[in-house]
This record gives sequence, C-alpha cells and structure tokens, in this order.
Amino acid sequence: MIAVAGGTGVVGTYVVDEVRRRGHQARVVSRSHGVDLATGAGLDSALQGADAVIDVSNVSTNSGRKAVAFFEAATGNLLAAGERAGIRHHVALSIVGIDRVDLPYYRGKVRQEDLVEAGRVPWTIVRATQFHEFPGQLIDRSPRPLALAPAMLSRPVAASEVAAVLVDAALGEPQGRTRDVAGPDQLLMSDLVRRVLAKRGERRLVVPLPLPGRMGRAVRAGGLLPQGEAVVGTQTWDDWLDRSA
Ligand SMILES: NC(=O)c1ccc[n+]([C@@H]2O[C@H](COP(=O)([O-])OP(=O)(O)OC[C@H]3O[C@@H](n4cnc5c(N)ncnc54)[C@H](OP(=O)(O)O)[C@@H]3O)[C@@H](O)[C@H]2O)c1
Repeated sequence: MIAVAGGTGVVGTYVVDEVRRRGHQARVVSRSHGVDLATGAGLDSALQGADAVIDVSNVSTNSGRKAVAFFEAATGNLLAAGERAGIRHHVALSIVGIDRVDLPYYRGKVRQEDLVEAGRVPWTIVRATQFHEFPGQLIDRSPRPLALAPAMLSRPVAASEVAAVLVDAALGEPQGRTRDVAGPDQLLMSDLVRRVLAKRGERRLVVPLPLPGRMGRAVRAGGLLPQGEAVVGTQTWDDWLDRSA
C-alpha cells in the first residue's frame, strides 16, 4: 500500500489514480481525509500498513517564512511517522532549480529536500519542472483583474507523466536523487497565462513580472530548466490545453 500525502492536489490526484491503475492500494493523506501534516494529527493511523510514502503535499504561498514552516513541519512529521510505521521508501516531489533560484517559496522546498536527505527513512527525490496546470494556478492565485506571470522560461510537463515517474520510483528501490523530469517544449510563462485566459474566456490584465536582482539573473540564465540529461515527458503544453476542459 502506498500513502499519498497531498493525494487530492493537482499532481496527487494523478498519483493516486496511477497507484490504483497498477493494482496497488493507495491511501490519501490530506486534511480533507482527516490528516493534518502540519501538526501530525491523524498521521500515525494513516500510515499504518503502508510500504511507501509519496509526498506531493503543498502550501500555496509567496512567503518564504510560510513555505519553510509548512515544508519543515509536514516533512518532519511524515518522516517521523514513517519511521514509526516502518515505511521502507519515502518519495518526495521537488522542483528543478530550487537551489539555483532564490524564490521565497523555494526555500521551503530546499528545507524539505534537506530533511528527507538527512532522515532515516530510505528516500528518493524527484525534481520536476512546472506542471502544465501551473499558468492556471498563477491566474487563480492572482488578485482580480490581474494575472501575474513571472518572467520565466519553463519546460512545462504533464502532471500525469510526473505522477507515473513518482509511482515507478515508489515501487522500486530508493534511489536518492534522480534525473530531473521536464516537458518537451521551452515556453514563456506569460504566453501560457494569456492562452489559458483565452481558453477560459476570462478577461484579466496579464502582468509579466520581471524577477529582480540575482533571482532574475538566475532565471534568465535558465535556472529553472533541467541540467544534464532529463526524463522528458511526451505531452506538449499545446496538446494538454486542447484536451483540457
Ligand atoms: N505546481 C507545479 O507546477 C509544481 C511543479 C513541480 C513540483 N511541484 C511540487 O509538487 C507538489 C504538489 O503540488 P500541487 O500543485 O499538486 O499541490 P496542490 O494542488 O496545491 O495540492 C496540495 C495538496 O496538499 C494537501 N495539503 C495541504 N496542506 C495540508 C496539510 N496541512 N495537511 C495535509 N495535507 C495538506 C492538499 O489537500 P487538503 O487541502 O485536503 O489538505 C492537497 O492534496 C508540491 O510539493 C510542489 O512543490 C509543483
């Protein structure tokens, strides 16, 4: 049985489906299923009988302090409960470039990776680029009538394909860090935001946000793109947009 922390989220929903499609049991670990990762409430019973954990939980914030607080607490609680439950493999999803680009949210992801690496549960960390859904998430988190789009090049990837990589990992042996996972095309985030708005028939002012200073230079230098040989997904962003409702 595989416990999926964040199993109701964008990628988590695909992870749960993929685990079940492969004939394994999945247990969703999230607040709407009675578990709070931030406090650990409900976690021990949720992990009972699980062999592996896939952590795709998340906090939506631009605050570095909130991101660090969430990922520190959630990861710490998951690892401690995992040890008590005899979890043989902890798989965490992270993001390409978090150690090259100093976005406040990424500080939380760095903390998550550090804790997983230092933990006693054997682990695998998979880093992926932005999901195809990411421009839509940016729109939904922007104050109306704006749509804020950081000036960034991305290699967006299908969350379903990332989910398959995570499930492969969880069913196999712990690997430590794996190759980055990215999509087939390199695209500008503000263009994707405009196209999602057009598809939704939603009128908003798209504000491309140049990222300041060192962070901006790191992004312009391709800091969010995979380095070295990546696992490259097959679904293009255009194809995903055509198929999305
Ligand atoms: N979005 C991207 O483009 C992208 C790209 C690469 C990697 N990632 C990483 O992928 C992971 C998942 O991202 P996502 O966009 O799929 O997330 P998401 O849609 O925001 O979903 C977050 C999930 O976490 C759960 N959750 C939040 N707070 C919780 C708490 N206190 N206790 C228990 N569960 C909690 C939510 O369920 P409840 O609300 O029911 O609690 C939900 O299932 C994140 O770690 C993110 O850094 C994201």
